[in-house]
Amino acid sequence: MSRHKISLRVNGQSYELEVEANRTLLQVLREELEMTGTKHACERGDCGLCTVLIDGVPTKSCLALAVEVDGREVTTVEGISKGEELNAVQRAFIEHGAVQCGFCTPAFIIAATAFLKRNPHPTEEEIKEAIGGILCRCTGYRQIIDAILDASRKV
Ligand code: FES
Ligand code: FES
Repeated sequence: MSRHKISLRVNGQSYELEVEANRTLLQVLREELEMTGTKHACERGDCGLCTVLIDGVPTKSCLALAVEVDGREVTTVEGISKGEELNAVQRAFIEHGAVQCGFCTPAFIIAATAFLKRNPHPTEEEIKEAIGGILCRCTGYRQIIDAILDASRKV
């Protein structure tokens, strides 16, 4: 398998890597950069649990080849808050009990944070649409939607 040199920024830090052509961004994040907050689940674009931001846009990292993110800016859940301080979405998830097993939480936090930047005062329907591609087996979504609504009143 041929290898390619890529450079990308992840959470504000620059990386130069050599990757195989079929290596996904998810694999690079978890296995090479040891950022395991981004979850590895279905690996075929169905669950949304591997969502990260590429140039600010929520993207399923299991479907993105590492070579495709050459020169791009990636944000993972590890880079979503300022240092130790949780952001408004993270705080709201805790306050509303929107974290149960927590496996889906990084993806929702990433997607909701980017969504509220684009649409700071969303309706409930708009929130449902924004998070529609991410699956949660525990919460029934009510607490997650309430948390994002609450965060939208505080950002
Ligand atoms: S692991 Fe990427 S969509 Fe499920
Ligand atoms: S909290 Fe368990 S999958 Fe969502």
